[in-house]
Amino acid sequence: MLNIILFGPPGAGKGTQSEKLIAKYKLLHLSTGDLLRSEIAANTPLGIEAKKFMDEGKLVPDEVVIGMIENKLEAHHDAAGFIFDGFPRTVAQAKALDELLAKHGHPITAMVAMEVPHVELVKRLVNRGLTSGRSDDTEEVINKRIDEYESKTRPVAKHYETQQKFSPINGIGEVEEVFDRIIEIINNAPIISL
Ligand code: AP5
Repeated sequence: MLNIILFGPPGAGKGTQSEKLIAKYKLLHLSTGDLLRSEIAANTPLGIEAKKFMDEGKLVPDEVVIGMIENKLEAHHDAAGFIFDGFPRTVAQAKALDELLAKHGHPITAMVAMEVPHVELVKRLVNRGLTSGRSDDTEEVINKRIDEYESKTRPVAKHYETQQKFSPINGIGEVEEVFDRIIEIINNAPIISL
């Protein structure tokens, strides 16, 4: 079972590369951002609450996103593996994910971290904001999202570095070039079962 975390700041290309990885490895895509936006579109109490945080570029509380991931893992325990996109985003989320996966006997295989400079992230997301309809794709909120990443999410890399599962790659270049760097890491990662 392949369990891959695609890691990186807002605009690094996690969603773009997830689509390609799903097609190649037949994995299930777990994007907490997409799950939260579905809740907002359905106007659920969870979505209404989450929107307040997302519109300000802040992280949604841990218990909300951990609960969503737990439900998805339970519902798809027969999957060939998962791509975690935008999760875990805090050390508490990483510890919760490790515990959930340990129950299923298939821990994280690798965390691939796409590194992209701040100026390029803002450029990509402002450009996406012209058509995405995402209320958080404005320059002001984009900068807050990047600050939130630096203070709360970057430490998650250390968590997987100590497990020897952390692989940084250059996230600049054509989408295909970045994809080739990711698959090289995945294809060389040891598959572990508990
Ligand atoms: P989320 O939806 O996860 O957004 P994000 O992390 O900010 O990531 P993005 O979707 O903006 O960027 P991406 O890295 O996927 O890049 P993409 O491929 O789209 O989270 C949104 C909000 O939800 C958070 O702020 C938070 O409030 C909440 N949330 C979500 N998960 C949470 C969690 N676990 N805990 C708490 N709160 C949570 O690409 C971006 C653009 O760049 C696109 O236009 C793309 O075409 C372009 N692009 C991609 N690759 C390249 C390339 N190689 N060269 C040039 N352009 C490229």
